Amino acid sequence: MKITVSTEKLENIQADCEFVLVVGKQKEHKWVQDKEDLETLNFIGELEESAFLPHQHRVYVGVDSLDRDEVRLALSYAMKAIAKTNYKSIKIGSYVKTCPAIYTKAIVEGTLLGSYVFDKYKSKKEEKVQRELIISLEEYHDKELKIESAQKAVGEAVIIADATNFAKDIVNSVPDDMTPEQLADEAQKVANSLENVECFIGDETFLEEQKMGAFAAVARASVHKPRFIHLTYKPQNPQAKFVFVGKGLTYDSGGLSLKPSEHMVSMKSDKSGAAAALAILKGSAQLEVPFEVHTIIGACENMIGGNAFKPDDVLVAKNGVTIEVRNTDAEGRLVLADCLCYASDLKPDYLVDMATLTGACVVAVGEYTTGIMGHNSTLKHSMLSAASKSGELSSTLQFNRYLKKLIKSDIADISNIASSRYGGAITAGLFLDNFVHEDVKENWLHLDIAGPAYLEKDWGYNQSGASGAGVRMSLYWLKEHEYKIANYHDKDEEK
Ligand code: BES
Ligand code: ZN
Ligand code: ZN
Repeated sequence: MKITVSTEKLENIQADCEFVLVVGKQKEHKWVQDKEDLETLNFIGELEESAFLPHQHRVYVGVDSLDRDEVRLALSYAMKAIAKTNYKSIKIGSYVKTCPAIYTKAIVEGTLLGSYVFDKYKSKKEEKVQRELIISLEEYHDKELKIESAQKAVGEAVIIADATNFAKDIVNSVPDDMTPEQLADEAQKVANSLENVECFIGDETFLEEQKMGAFAAVARASVHKPRFIHLTYKPQNPQAKFVFVGKGLTYDSGGLSLKPSEHMVSMKSDKSGAAAALAILKGSAQLEVPFEVHTIIGACENMIGGNAFKPDDVLVAKNGVTIEVRNTDAEGRLVLADCLCYASDLKPDYLVDMATLTGACVVAVGEYTTGIMGHNSTLKHSMLSAASKSGELSSTLQFNRYLKKLIKSDIADISNIASSRYGGAITAGLFLDNFVHEDVKENWLHLDIAGPAYLEKDWGYNQSGASGAGVRMSLYWLKEHEYKIANYHDKDEEK
């Protein structure tokens, strides 16, 4: 899909179709030209309401306000309305007089996220119409600034939406397709296609050399061998070092603590953290953020077999911490344990891990929301705020010393499950804390994306299946860091 901005008046732009936002049920706006038809259709203009008038070549969508996530939602509904048409060009006007960047970004993100289709496994694929979206900037005051900043915003939004859709493609791919080896290939492809990006891939021998005993144990029973993936994006004069760690379980059967059948379906999504971390690296490099960005992925399959790791085993992680296995289905934390030790050794300024870690997190915050954990409340809130701007739902969860006691073990340093079933998302986060180096703890965030990463039913502009959870919030978060640094330097110059 091609997206362009234009300073032309909307009425002067030639296009096959026009999208019109009805804001706050107000139909008096100059672009609402079909009031009678809308009345016949009983179109009120509520959020999530749309009306396609084929003879007029217009789609009307309701929003309560021009809040960015409502704009995203509206665009996705409009795209859905014309999905089966042959329209090649669509136009939409600007409704706000300032901040072209925020508004145009929301339009682009809503359009691209909302029109994502996953048809890799369909024998008959629906023909994809190549469309162009033209955004008219006629409402903006500042004639000089607007086109430039709007074009830049479009470019950024395309990168962010494409990265999200890229993560969806990986997660939606089935386990026998997207094996650890294939995931490593995807990472290598990302590195090959981008400047300043390098990729290192390690196999079982590497895990052994690195003393990653927890990761290796989880991987052992699968015919698909594990891969440790480390990507690095290094721009010139990086201002800080960010490390993202992703749980890459290409399948989670539960292992010997086997999942019941109904819980096993959809466990191809247990690689969502890895897909997000890979997409974030891709997006960061394309956005040319002024930071060194690393992505570490622990990719393997949790399966059963004669050589499977078992409840009662004691594993030794890379940092020497011993772990009593009491449930082989709590495997993500074992893989992440070793990856977090490795990530800590890189001495990051910021460390973020992302994982479909616990069903308990879904119970705690609902299936649409990411749980944000960590020791530093300012840092947690910076991610919370970035998530909100990006349109992802998130909620912070608090660590506490009493929950920490629940992962004690009689036989080893810690147990891989808590002694109580309450607070399972937090006890999993506290388990990971044992593998984050002391110097990094204050700058570490753990994102449990078990709920939003994979949807049984579509909601908002997310289709059923993978959602790319974590990608947008992290890329917005990185951009916020960039703005902060830029402002700081500007102020310096003023002095
Ligand atoms: N991959 C699952 C968590 C999960 C659950 C992801 C639902 C997505 C949707 C994880 O490995 C797991 O099985 N966790 C267990 C932990 C328990 C054994 C302490 C869980 O949540 O039940
Ligand atoms: Zn599991
Ligand atoms: Zn899992």
